[in-house]
Amino acid sequence: MTGRPASPVTESPPLLDIENLTVGFRTGRETASIPLQGVNLRVPRATRMALVGESGSGKSLTAAAVIGMLPKGAEILAGSIRLDGEEMLGASKQRIRDLRGRQIAIMFQNPRASLNPVLTVGGQIAEVIRTHSDAGRRESRRQAIDLLDQMGVSDARRRAGDYVHQYSGGMAQRAALAMALSCRPDLLIADEPTTGLDATLQQQVLELVVEQVATRGASLLLITHDIAIARQTCERTAVMYAGRVMESGPTASVTERPANPYTGALLRAFATVDEGRMYAIPGTVPTLLGPLSECPFANRCPDVADECRDIEDREVACVKA
Ligand SMILES: Nc1ncnc2c1ncn2[C@@H]1O[C@H](COP(=O)(O)OP(=O)(O)O)[C@@H](O)[C@H]1O
Ligand SMILES: [Mg+2]
Repeated sequence: MTGRPASPVTESPPLLDIENLTVGFRTGRETASIPLQGVNLRVPRATRMALVGESGSGKSLTAAAVIGMLPKGAEILAGSIRLDGEEMLGASKQRIRDLRGRQIAIMFQNPRASLNPVLTVGGQIAEVIRTHSDAGRRESRRQAIDLLDQMGVSDARRRAGDYVHQYSGGMAQRAALAMALSCRPDLLIADEPTTGLDATLQQQVLELVVEQVATRGASLLLITHDIAIARQTCERTAVMYAGRVMESGPTASVTERPANPYTGALLRAFATVDEGRMYAIPGTVPTLLGPLSECPFANRCPDVADECRDIEDREVACVKA
């Protein structure tokens, strides 16, 4: 980050600006749960941002809302998602498709989720390149092979003609990255992209993602349950818990001087992993049935105080921070 002072007149809007995003699940006419409760998250241009939190905290749902792929039964109850200053919630389907298609790409834990099993890997990447440029068949095919090669797929010319099931896990994730980058996104969302891989492959794929995103001047929203991965790859970190962002800021400040007790608990839990014990914060993540008037971490927080039980009109995630 630069130390440039904010100027309200000339400052361009953040690449992605999520405000008060609230998502509920419906069964019939009832809202059964509210898994996202006023999520605030800003990703500036050319910045790597980690979104960390325990399983079930709402990370993937946040990503799904951004790419317009919420699961069935989910509905946006409130909030705003702006891409480069333009509101996406409520925009026409065509406009949203244009905006997202040009600016956002996603990769998942399972690389096979982003690749079509019945098309060759190179063929489908070439098709995306054709859609996003005026390259013809031969040229887009050449660019697809080039892209696979840049992602470290060895013998890319030959492998371009293979199907994804013929790729190993690590190679498939490289192909999924090539696919994601083929539309030249300004924002790459990577949802636990290395969780299924062994430690060495995990390292290689993370380094590749960081290098490629940086080379292209794009931003990265890296979703992970692992704070060590956030530290290693991202300049900024947002910590999510029970459908809210508890705190966010430069990764070094968030992880060295956490302002929120939840971040502290998460860090301590990770420190015990290093000592070979299980990673766990005592207690369980609350099931969210409606808006909370108390801090969602209150029942597990070592620093809980009376004021944590009444946060109705607060914007801060921790009243003590
Ligand atoms: N399709 C769904 N139907 C009902 N609840 C869901 C669905 N998908 C996710 N949820 C709930 O939303 C919450 C957040 O899920 P998710 O965003 O997947 O968490 P994370 O990615 O942080 O592990 C969880 O409590 C989960 O049970
Ligand atoms: Mg998830």
